[in-house]
Amino acid sequence: MNHDKTGRKTLALAVLLTLPTLGGAQEMVTADEYRAALQDKFANPGTMVIDQGEMQFKTKRGPKNATLEKCDFGKGPGVLKGAYAELPRYFKDTNRVEDLESRLVTCMVRLQGLTEAEVKKKVFADQRANESNTAIEAMAMYVAAQSDGMPINPPLKHAKEKEALKVGEALFFTRHGPMDFSCATCHGNDDKRIRLQELGNYATSKKDAQKTMLTWPTYRVSHGVVRTLQSRMWDCHWQMRLPDLDYGSPASVALISFLSQQAKGAVLDLPGMKR
Ligand code: HEC
Repeated sequence: MNHDKTGRKTLALAVLLTLPTLGGAQEMVTADEYRAALQDKFANPGTMVIDQGEMQFKTKRGPKNATLEKCDFGKGPGVLKGAYAELPRYFKDTNRVEDLESRLVTCMVRLQGLTEAEVKKKVFADQRANESNTAIEAMAMYVAAQSDGMPINPPLKHAKEKEALKVGEALFFTRHGPMDFSCATCHGNDDKRIRLQELGNYATSKKDAQKTMLTWPTYRVSHGVVRTLQSRMWDCHWQMRLPDLDYGSPASVALISFLSQQAKGAVLDLPGMKR
């Protein structure tokens, strides 16, 4: 049994490691085989990022020399189990809707005494510089993983939660920027793809939104790091040639609210792993 698992792990890793350099002479891996290999949790380096995130979460930092262990993600201070599955949600103490990552910023400011600018100075690892995950990326992975196996179920009771959904939906369908793209331009049709990437129809297909959202945050093989939803929103804004999306901004949270509401009911399978 054990032997079998190790064998599969080695095989999947070998597939992943050789894929970017596949030449004509080497054995070809089909796109389907590649996707199947990405399902193998034993070979998912994202699991190590969960451990790094836990260490970061429990590290004292900032002028207040505090850890984040008392951070309230909506289920009470320090309660992580199931919290991510119910984000974004309204928070009384900030009087706004927050997603996982904006909430991490809030806690680093409030509990650790850092400024927002300090926290946001470097949020994403740069894959071109071979960087490993930043502290906030790893912590997002750690907190999210405590909801593995639970259905996505963000609340929709508070007026501000309903507002965030509406704003997110409007942003999703509104064309803007120099290319006149909306999110729906690329993610509004069934079976649309760019090269080999399936784009997903988040406009009308609950199924597509669910399939996508249940594996975020995700280990991104081609980047060698875990990527979060804030980074995905930032990247798609860049693809639309829009100005940089501010980390944890109301617009980013609104888009994540829309996607999460569309994906309601999907069971989280974390950490995800994508090409
Ligand atoms: C120009 C086309 C384009 C536009 C416009 C665009 N995206 Fe994307 N999006 C992509 C591509 C391409 C990918 C897949 C990237 C990859 O796999 O490398 C993607 C990936 C995603 C994913 C993750 C998919 C997965 O399988 O996990 C989400 C979520 C997403 N986009 C949301 C959005 C949102 C929200 C907007 C609007 C703010 C948007 N996108 C605008 C092209 C676009």
